Amino acid sequence: MNICILTISDRSSKGVRDDLSGPAILNKIESLGWNSVGYEIIPDEINIIRDQLIQWCDEIVPDIIFTTGGTGFAPRDVTPEATEKVIDKKTPGISEYIRLQSMKITPHAMLSRGIAGIRKKTLIINLPGSPKAALESIDFILPALPHAVELIHNDPKSESNH
Ligand code: MTE
Repeated sequence: MNICILTISDRSSKGVRDDLSGPAILNKIESLGWNSVGYEIIPDEINIIRDQLIQWCDEIVPDIIFTTGGTGFAPRDVTPEATEKVIDKKTPGISEYIRLQSMKITPHAMLSRGIAGIRKKTLIINLPGSPKAALESIDFILPALPHAVELIHNDPKSESNH
C-alpha cells in the first residue's frame, strides 16, 4: 500500500506549531508495513489543497491519501470543499463510519465535516486534525481499506474478499 499524508494547518505550515498528526499517521502506516510516498504540510487554502491532491493523484498515484485537519466549523476549515473539487466518486460510508464510531468517544466528532472519495486510482480520506482524532479515525476504517484499494484497482483478488 502506497500512502501520502497531507497535513492541512495554517499554523503548522508557518512553523508556528509542530505537526504532530502527520508523523503520528506516518508511524501508524509504517507499523502496518505500508509505504509512505508523500508528506506535505500546507495552509488551509482551498486552491493549495486542491492542487496538492491533484498532483499526487495524477503523478504519484498513491493508493490512499490521508488528509489531516481543516474539517471543522472554523471559517478557515475548507478541506472537505477542496476534496470535493477533485474526486470523481464520493465514498460516504468511510466518513459516516468514522463519525459514527468517533461519536462514541466524543460528541465533538459530529463537528468534523470530513469526506472521502476516489480520484482515478486513489482513495482520498479526510481525517480530523488532532493526532488523537486522526489515529482513532484510521483505526476504525482500517479493516476495510485493503479491500477498498483492491476494488479501485479492479484486482481479481477482490472477488474472494466479498
Ligand atoms: N474524532 C475523534 N475520533 N476523536 C476526536 O477527539 N475531535 C473532534 C472531531 N473529530 C475528535 C474527532 C473535534 S474537537 C473537531 S473540532 C473536529 O473533529 C474537526 O477537527 P479539525 O478541524 O481539526 O479537522
